[in-house]
Amino acid sequence: MSSGERPELGEVPETALWTLWYRAVEARRPDAVLHDPKAVELVDRIDFPFADRFGTSGTQAQLQALRASCFDREVADFLDREPRGTVVSLGEGLETQYWRVDNGRARWLGVDLPEAVALRERLLPPGPRRRHLAADATDLSWADEVDHSRAVLISAQGLLMYLPPMQVRALIAGCAERLPGATFLLDAVPRWFSHLTLTGRMRSHAYQPPPMPWAMDADERGKLRTAGPAVAAVRDVRPTGGRGLVGALLPLALAVPPFATRRPSVVALEFSAR
Ligand SMILES: C[S@@+](CC[C@H](N)C(=O)[O-])C[C@H]1O[C@@H](n2cnc3c(N)ncnc32)[C@H](O)[C@@H]1O
Repeated sequence: MSSGERPELGEVPETALWTLWYRAVEARRPDAVLHDPKAVELVDRIDFPFADRFGTSGTQAQLQALRASCFDREVADFLDREPRGTVVSLGEGLETQYWRVDNGRARWLGVDLPEAVALRERLLPPGPRRRHLAADATDLSWADEVDHSRAVLISAQGLLMYLPPMQVRALIAGCAERLPGATFLLDAVPRWFSHLTLTGRMRSHAYQPPPMPWAMDADERGKLRTAGPAVAAVRDVRPTGGRGLVGALLPLALAVPPFATRRPSVVALEFSAR
């Protein structure tokens, strides 16, 4: 542990330390599925009992990294098509994706609750193409900060599960309305997992994650189209690669029910252009 930044965060903002930690645990391995030296650097700079609080599970680290890789792949593809586009990261926490996939030309806007943004700004001060906004992502006034003349990708990694279901639908519908033509990337926990968090039976090492009221089984993703009339397409984004047992079981987990339908999912929504 370093003698650096000592965060004291509420239970939902603290989840940003949980995901950061597991990306760093994975990134420290020589055979890591995610290259994320910035996450390792941040963990070394933060004075927090990461291992005692969250554990050191290699499986959890790899699954976390595979989820981040799905988001990276989609953002990298978007930036290939739209090199001067804007990536809006809702619930950005201490995500280090900018250092993994930035192309030197894109704009990045991170939105998170004030205490999370205050910590991020101390650790990762903004730059000319990278800004932060302390705001509730469900209040769509952040969309006023987005340059509408550029293509937009909205990423909500590890965020929506903490919101009430009605707010998730309203957020998707509002983004589709305010940012026509944008892509919205999200991930969802399956219903059984949400249920465990809501009944206080979800444990990860000594850590009890906050309740996750919004959930979606993988075979329900088509319903996201009904969130708003401007949601034009829904696409499953699947993890690839993987190491050891996780890598061996992943193709089965993606293909064979009930795993295939009750797994966590990453989904890309395409909004219709006006
Ligand atoms: C699990 S962390 C994910 C952080 C990051 N996206 C990642 O994948 O490492 C959830 C983040 O969502 C943020 N968050 C939760 N509710 C929010 C809201 N209503 N508006 C903005 N951010 C929110 C938390 O503060 C936290 O930073």
